[in-house]
Amino acid sequence: MSTVVGQEPDWRIAVVTGAARGIGLAICERLASDGYAVALWDRDEAALDAVAGSLRKQGANVLAVAVDITDREQVNRALAQTVAALGPLTALVNNAAILGSSGPTVEASPDEWKRVFDVNVFGALHCVQAIVPAMLANGWGRVVNVASIAGKEGNPFAGAYAASKAALISMTKSLGKELAATGVLVNCITPSAADTDIFGVHEEGQRAQLQARLLERVPMKRFVRVDEVAEMAAWLCSSRCSFSTGAVFDISGGRAVY
Ligand SMILES: NC(=O)c1ccc[n+]([C@@H]2O[C@H](COP(=O)([O-])OP(=O)(O)OC[C@H]3O[C@@H](n4cnc5c(N)ncnc54)[C@H](O)[C@@H]3O)[C@@H](O)[C@H]2O)c1
Repeated sequence: MSTVVGQEPDWRIAVVTGAARGIGLAICERLASDGYAVALWDRDEAALDAVAGSLRKQGANVLAVAVDITDREQVNRALAQTVAALGPLTALVNNAAILGSSGPTVEASPDEWKRVFDVNVFGALHCVQAIVPAMLANGWGRVVNVASIAGKEGNPFAGAYAASKAALISMTKSLGKELAATGVLVNCITPSAADTDIFGVHEEGQRAQLQARLLERVPMKRFVRVDEVAEMAAWLCSSRCSFSTGAVFDISGGRAVY
């Protein structure tokens, strides 16, 4: 067990939330190929079991844990199960999120805002509060929050999502500064649009329209690939990232101006 502040332990064990598909799954694949034991946390048990089975067939050491991160007790149980099976954690990737319903912010229901914040903000907070204390005791850890460019720029008709991602960015900055001298680094990633299930199911024409709108503001004129986001997350989980904390890492094909 590492107790020297800032010294990487000789094991690599990560929790990734929202691991059953999309960006979370790509991060799990990447971390597994970097030699991590990976706990896949997701509330979609069926999808989770399928992807965990396929990762194991590729030789990965993975554990599938069905958990709704909005429920603090479930998070505590998931952590106990994870540590018992894999050992003490060195990395947490807070990736699970929902988009919420779209529409004018002036007409939005406060309950819908709460639903989005429960997953995107409080879910991440539950995981941080459950997992980080043991990292602090070990003197080493990495927390990566998957935010969004929406949290920097706002997103018309997705006000709750954008505000929740702004909250996650701010949580990253606060926590990063609080923990800066502990060996536990906290950073976030702000991707532009990736072609994943988060946008829901659309008719073919509608989907093309939505995608064209999303790409209008991306100078590279394409979606970020999930493996590109995973590459950045893997670096932020590693000891190769050693002098960045409370920081916001852009991956938006030239869209972000800060
Ligand atoms: N796709 C994009 O365009 C895009 C752009 C910027 C940022 N992001 C961010 O990247 C992350 C991953 O997005 P994605 O596109 O892969 O999404 P996705 O919808 O494809 O996958 C999200 C996963 O999170 C899980 N999840 C949702 N609520 C949960 C809960 N309460 N408890 C446990 N698991 C839960 C879902 O079951 C799902 O498997 C999110 O934080 C998202 O905001 C996505």
